[in-house]
Amino acid sequence: MDKKPVKIMETVLRDGHQSLAATRMRIKDMLPVLEKIDNVGYYAVEAWGGATFDACLRFLNEDPWQRLRTLKKHLPKTPIQMLLRGQNILGYNHYADDVVREFVKRSVANGVSIIRIFDALNDTRNLECAMRAAKEAGAHVQGCIVYTISPYHKDSNFVELGKELAQMGADSICIKDMAGLLRPYAAESLVRSLKTEVGLPVDLHTHFTSGMGDMTLLKAVEAGADIIDTALSPFATSTSQPCTESMVATLQGTPYDTGIQLPVLNDLADYFKTVRKSLTDDFNLNPNIPIDPKVLTFQIPGGMLSNLLNQMKEMGVADKYPQLLEEMPRVRAELGYPPLVTPTSQIVGSMAVLNVALGRYKMIPREVKDLILGKYGRTPGPIDPEVRKLAIGNAPQIDHRPADDIAPQLKKLKDKLAEEGFPNAPIEDVLSYASFPEVTLNFLRHSNIGMNFHDM
Ligand code: CO
Repeated sequence: MDKKPVKIMETVLRDGHQSLAATRMRIKDMLPVLEKIDNVGYYAVEAWGGATFDACLRFLNEDPWQRLRTLKKHLPKTPIQMLLRGQNILGYNHYADDVVREFVKRSVANGVSIIRIFDALNDTRNLECAMRAAKEAGAHVQGCIVYTISPYHKDSNFVELGKELAQMGADSICIKDMAGLLRPYAAESLVRSLKTEVGLPVDLHTHFTSGMGDMTLLKAVEAGADIIDTALSPFATSTSQPCTESMVATLQGTPYDTGIQLPVLNDLADYFKTVRKSLTDDFNLNPNIPIDPKVLTFQIPGGMLSNLLNQMKEMGVADKYPQLLEEMPRVRAELGYPPLVTPTSQIVGSMAVLNVALGRYKMIPREVKDLILGKYGRTPGPIDPEVRKLAIGNAPQIDHRPADDIAPQLKKLKDKLAEEGFPNAPIEDVLSYASFPEVTLNFLRHSNIGMNFHDM
């Protein structure tokens, strides 16, 4: 058999600690080993975007843009990958095109080489603007297929989506399985279909949540996956990615050999073990997050279940938790089977909690109405007609690209930030302000530049 080395995308600097350490890894935890990471031979390192941006500003007193520049300076050879939520950028609602374009442009200028772009509903209209901007900026554009299970998410649907992403200029396709729902043989079939029918490199991103992650990666590799996402062992398995060392060892001496040497990974793992421990201590985190195969039955990610349970406790209805487990899939079906990923996971989850606590659709939050109106994009399946009537009456659903309704925002944001006392803020600060206004103002007012890590 011909050699077909598999490429490894290391997630320890982003999804690994986002999944297992509440996104609290600091630049000072990364710096001592960046040079070593740069020499491993990784295809790429995911190190920015996702929740890291918010966490930098909100919890770590770090400028995320400065973190990016520092990372790039110390990772000269290895491409830095970021995760971008399409028209939502890194926030929770849609932004105007001018903000999306500028954000993408500045991300690339500050050090990002690969932009992985997804939309919670797999509505490609929400990816258009970001994908085009990323292309223009010279980045590698990775278009995402957000994986979920429903009558509207068959291989054929995903292949159509893959073809559309290819037409839009994607350089590679990522199967994004954020909840760990992708079973090994389903992965084999999906990867094979995408490889034959779309023809772009396929990257598989899964989570170990259900305990199947490494089997899923292996079947995907055998079916032709080009890139797999893994995390170094101290930040691997449970709700994070499968383990880098184990996958590298598994493929060693086979046609899929990654070419990566285990001893250097072992050194890095020793180091990150101490980081995990210090994050757990410093931020009072849960050191043991177990796998949760129940996700396969309820299709609700584990982290989300604990959030919902907390919401129920606050409302004094924690005893209705068993009903919630039945209500979630029901609400998801009525709302057109959205994949459960930010922000749709929160929207469906809150609706289910309210239904269980107050009676079905007695109180309907604005976000649910917006979802039904089409403001987040097209739902994969139709909305239940009765639920639609209860939520929006006879109001028409929009059938155009949601961001077409949003006027340019960048100039207004600059002016507002000037009014707040930062007239000469660099464009990066304006973009931070666009994403998380209150948190950014707080950061700008209280961060002492002299005490920050300055481009080290
Ligand atoms: Co992930």
